[in-house]
Amino acid sequence: MDLHYALYHSKSLEPASATLHNDILQVSARNNARDHLTGFLHREADYFIQYIEGPKTRLYGALARIGRDTRHSNFEVIQNGPAEKRLLPDWTMGFVDPGLLNLSDLLDVSHGRLDIRTIDPFDLVIFLVSNAGALRSGAAAA
Ligand SMILES: Cc1cc2nc3c(=O)[nH]c(=O)nc-3n(C[C@H](O)[C@H](O)[C@H](O)COP(=O)(O)O)c2cc1C
Repeated sequence: MDLHYALYHSKSLEPASATLHNDILQVSARNNARDHLTGFLHREADYFIQYIEGPKTRLYGALARIGRDTRHSNFEVIQNGPAEKRLLPDWTMGFVDPGLLNLSDLLDVSHGRLDIRTIDPFDLVIFLVSNAGALRSGAAAA
């Protein structure tokens, strides 16, 4: 398989709500299962951050759709390319609302001043994968 990954961030144009997030998750889980895509989405303040991986053509097709979505703006792919293996093989679309971990706490910044562009993309990936791991252990403990 021609495995690729992408990491992007965007700004939500809608306030955080369970309805919005469930709508995104339901469609993503369905499409991503069909397209053999896996990934994790995080929302914090107005930001969405998503790591997504899978077959190259399907991945870039999904990214094009996501980029056109009018529920967010400032869609910016910060890193993408070939991947040797999946980092999130078990997640058609992991998401937890509110996040188990959040960047503001980890980076010790106040919520209003969080600026995703100042964070190393590698750290963002580690953060998303850790969140997925935390979600899994929480689910296992429940
Ligand atoms: C922050 C965000 C993340 C999204 N992630 C995905 C995703 O991983 N996969 C996906 O298919 N759609 C995702 N969507 C939804 C797409 O933008 C689009 O609405 C959807 O793919 C359309 O699917 P449909 O043609 O089956 O209705 C996301 C939307 C937002 C706002």
